[in-house]
Parts: sequence; structure tokens; C-alpha cells
Amino acid sequence: MPRDATKIATMARDLVERGPDWEWTEQRVRAAIHRKDTIAPVACVGNAMAGFGLIRVGFDQAHLDLLAVRPGRRKMGIGRTLVEWLEQSMLVAGVGIVRVEVQPERHEVQAFFRNLGYRQWHADPAGTKTGTGPLHMAHDLWCPPVMDEVR
Ligand SMILES: CC(C)(COP(=O)(O)OP(=O)(O)OC[C@H]1O[C@@H](n2cnc3c(N)ncnc32)[C@H](O)[C@@H]1OP(=O)(O)O)[C@@H](O)C(=O)NCCC(=O)NCCS
Repeated sequence: MPRDATKIATMARDLVERGPDWEWTEQRVRAAIHRKDTIAPVACVGNAMAGFGLIRVGFDQAHLDLLAVRPGRRKMGIGRTLVEWLEQSMLVAGVGIVRVEVQPERHEVQAFFRNLGYRQWHADPAGTKTGTGPLHMAHDLWCPPVMDEVR
């Protein structure tokens, strides 16, 4: 909902970006929510927003631009529920691959996505040189996890 844009932008700034160059401003989040190719589910505990996701849907792939759960609400399954809900929506839409970028130093976030079936698919070319680029991870929704071992 557009009225969630302020809270989503604040959480994105504090929990995801955490740096001086704040890209997901309220204006950008609001514009994204209005786009027809973007979905932004929100998880609430009571009346308070506990977490959210924001995904951009393409022809056969989707990009998870943002995902965050408030620190006090973590490790309760909210992040998993948001990702799985988005993935089910992608499958219904005929989308088979979800991509996400994770900063290389965020090992706990990489572990979270690995746990949900995401794997690194290539390092950012620019980041390879500088060692600062994001880790590109992807989940093939059409390929069952058991196939990991033979790929
Ligand atoms: C990543 C994040 C969304 C996880 O949310 P969460 O609600 O705590 O995750 P869940 O409770 O649903 O955990 C799902 C699974 O991942 C695992 N997991 C969660 N956090 C983990 C961590 N820090 N280290 C290792 N595994 C972790 C859980 O053990 C759980 O596994 P299980 O279902 O087999 O028990 C949350 O930590 C967060 O908001 N981080 C900061 C924002 C961010 O960096 N977002 C990602 C980039 S956009």
C-alpha cells in the first residue's frame, strides 16, 4: 500500500542500506509500489509493521530489491514467510527465477538466503576487481533442491 512507503523507506535505510548513500528514499519506494511490475508485501504483528519485501517482476525472472525484518522480530519465520509468499506468487505468474543481491560482508543474510535455496550465480564483475561488489544470488523455483548436487 502506498501509505506503507514511509515505514518501508525508513526500514530500508536503517536495516538494508545502512550507509550514507540512501537510495531507497520514500519517493522511490512510493514510485515502486505504484508500478504494475512491483509487489511489496508487508508483515504485521498487531498494528505494527514487522517486515516487508519488495520484488520487481520481469518476463521470466524477478528481482528481490528489498527484504527486511525488524531486529526484535527476527528468527521467528517472518523473513521466510515473506520470501515464500513472494516465490509462490512468482510461480503463479510463470516466473521461475528470483534474484537477490547481498553485500559480501553480510554473511548472516547470505546464510538466510542459502537456507531458502538461493545460490551464488556470479560475482559482480566490477566488485571482483575492487572486492566490494554485491554477491548475486538466485533461486531456481522450478528446480527442486535435490538437483543442487548434480548441477
Ligand atoms: C535476512 C532477514 C530478512 C531474515 O529475517 P528473519 O525473519 O529473521 O528470518 P526467518 O526467521 O524467517 O529465518 C528463516 C530461516 O533462515 C535462518 N536464518 C535467519 N537469520 C539467520 C542468520 N542470521 N544466520 C543464519 N541463518 C539465519 C533461520 O534459522 C531460518 O531457518 P529455519 O526456517 O530452517 O529455522 C533479517 O535478518 C533482516 O532483515 N536482515 C537485515 C536486512 C537485510 O539485510 N535484508 C536482505 C537484503 S535486501
